[in-house]
Order: sequence, then structure tokens, then C-alpha cells
Amino acid sequence: MKRVIVDRFGGPETLRVVEEPTTEPGPGQLRVRVTSIGMNHAELMARRGDYKIVSGSPPFTPGLECGGVIDAIGAGVTQRRVGDRVTLGLDTPRRFRGADSGGTYRSHYICDAAGVLPAPDAIPDEQLGAVWLPYLTAWGCLIWKQGLQPGQFVGIPAASSSVGLAAAQVVKQAGGIAIGLTSSPDKVDAIKALPTARFDHLVVTTDRPWHEDLKKITGGHGVDVYLDPVAAGEYLDTEIRTLANNGTIWLYGLLGKPGPVNMAPLLRKSAAIRGWMVSELATVDHATLLNACGKVLDGFAAGAYRQHVGGRFKLDDVREAHVAMERGRHIGKLVLIP
Ligand SMILES: NC(=O)c1ccc[n+]([C@@H]2O[C@H](COP(=O)([O-])OP(=O)(O)OC[C@H]3O[C@@H](n4cnc5c(N)ncnc54)[C@H](OP(=O)(O)O)[C@@H]3O)[C@@H](O)[C@H]2O)c1
Repeated sequence: MKRVIVDRFGGPETLRVVEEPTTEPGPGQLRVRVTSIGMNHAELMARRGDYKIVSGSPPFTPGLECGGVIDAIGAGVTQRRVGDRVTLGLDTPRRFRGADSGGTYRSHYICDAAGVLPAPDAIPDEQLGAVWLPYLTAWGCLIWKQGLQPGQFVGIPAASSSVGLAAAQVVKQAGGIAIGLTSSPDKVDAIKALPTARFDHLVVTTDRPWHEDLKKITGGHGVDVYLDPVAAGEYLDTEIRTLANNGTIWLYGLLGKPGPVNMAPLLRKSAAIRGWMVSELATVDHATLLNACGKVLDGFAAGAYRQHVGGRFKLDDVREAHVAMERGRHIGKLVLIP
């Protein structure tokens, strides 16, 4: 089995692939031969030492998502079989630290049999580890928390990100109007050409003030909901300014550079800024999480949801993969293929 280890906090050079003897699943457990590991910013933060609550101290194995094919089952496992295609549940790998639990950057993953979900044929092998973070982040916030209504305007910053692309699909399925915001003018044509990109409008936020675009698109109504991973400075200020009455800005990341914002329009508009962590779905109760996963899988089965893989890297090339993610030129999800 191969596994990635971070020996010390630092740059991509701290990522090391090690070979270890293949271990067998214990009673009630199964082993997944991993075909796909979805990459997330959390792993870059963990590697740098900026996410110690999850990583602990080195050494640790990073990774939040993976999926693949079951290749061994332990005693007493009846609900799954060797050969089943599965994804790891959102609540399975919680911490990167630890030898046999934790991070997903590895070729084989051993966990409790209840820790995986069967995957439909609509999700190809290379995407089995790239479903939950983008789709549960978008669905959980916009549908479960917000209760998005048909006809509502939704602003989606980081349009080219995996969460951004998923969010537009969730908005369209709910009958809303998806307004993608991108900080990369050079990505616009490529996003528009993607069959998986479901934005009704795409606005570039870096080359000019964008509040006028939002005013025009919404006919003066304003944006009802923002799903925002930038969350700071001028960006947040423009969101507050362009929000509709009773609108909500959901913050789910901290990519932006902090700066002053004018809160006054929030009072006038009875508007709100709220935070969102997808892990909330896993902590309420298991039935809530299973229901959310079921809704996402239904979306894939219906063809409404389709992931875009923007880059594939061998697990052996994990350093290169981290450099690419840091560079931010990709569109959609980056995956590691063991
Ligand atoms: N709260 C949660 O539960 C949760 C769950 C999943 C992810 N996240 C967070 O969501 C964010 C995106 O995750 P991801 O995996 O989708 O990442 P990703 O695919 O790497 O997307 C990053 C994108 O964000 C945009 N961006 C980066 N810096 C920016 C800035 N300063 N201002 C404006 N836009 C910026 C860029 O898109 P454009 O070029 O299109 O602007 C960039 O390509 C991360 O911060 C991650 O930690 C949070």
C-alpha cells in the first residue's frame, strides 16, 4: 500500500510517498482500493501548519475524501461485498493523524463497513472521491440551511472552483438564477465552454467594479443569497451593497484579504451574514447526513449534477498536485489517482 506522509510543516517538498505492507481489515471492517482522492484546500493548510485542529502535529497523512472499489472485507461484514464501488462517508475520515484512520492520501483505505456508501454508475471511478465536499457544501447550505426558492438570485464567488460549479447545478435544479463570480478573466471562456457549468450569468470581479453588473442582472432587486468562500474586504463590501432585502451572505471559506466593510446596508435590508461548515451535516444526526447524501446521489442519477475534473495526478506526483492547487489555474476538482 502507498501512503502520503507529511513529516514536518512546510511546502510541497514535505509530502513523501511511502510503501507499507498491505494490512487486512479487522472484524466489521472493509478495505477500499482507492481509485480517486479529491483534493481540498484543507490539505494545503494542514501541510503548512495552518489547520492543526485537523492535522495535529506531523507526521500525518492528509486528505478528506476518497472512493474506490472494495477489495477485502473483514469477519461479520454482510452489507457490502468485494467489488462494490463505494465512496467514503463524510463522517468517516475526521482527522489526518493516526496510523489506520484519518487522511485519505493513500492507495488503500480501511474503515468500518458502515463508513462507506454504495456509488451509482453515474459517478465514474476517478470521481468516487470527489463528490461529497463540493456537493454537500453547496446542497447543504443552499437547500438544507437556506431553503432556496425558485426565482431567487444566487451569487456564487469562486465560480471556477469545484464548490462553485456544484453550487450552480444545485441552484438550477432548485429553479434559482445562478450568477457566477470569478476573479480570473482568463478562465471565463473556458468556464462558458464547460457542459457542466450551469451559470445563467458570469461576472468578472477583478477588472472593474462589479456592483453595476449585479444591479443590471437582478433588475435592481439585488442578490438574494451569496455562497461565498472569499469573505473579506472589498469583496464582502460589494456583496453587502448588492444584497436584496432580507438577503443572506453565507461564508464558507476565508480566501480573501481582510479589509474594512460597511455594515450599514445590512440594517436597512434586514439582511444577514452567516457561516457554514459542511461538517454540520455530519454532526446533527446520521439520518440527516444520509438524507443529504441521498439527495446528492439523486441529482447525479437524474443528470442534474455532474462533476468536472480539472486535473489528474498520480499519487506519486502529489507534490506537483499541491503546486497546481496552490497556483489556482484549474477549473473544477483536482484528483489524485493512486
Ligand atoms: N466550509 C466548508 O465546509 C467548506 C467545504 C469545502 C470547501 N471549503 C472552502 O471553499 C474554498 C474553495 O474550495 P475548493 O476546494 O472549491 O477550492 P478550489 O477548487 O481550489 O477553488 C479556489 C478558487 O477560489 C477562487 N479564489 C481564490 N482566491 C480568491 C480570492 N482571494 N478572491 C476571490 N476568489 C478567489 C478562485 O476561483 P476564480 O478563479 O473562479 O475566482 C480559485 O480558483 C476553500 O477556501 C475551502 O477551504 C469550505
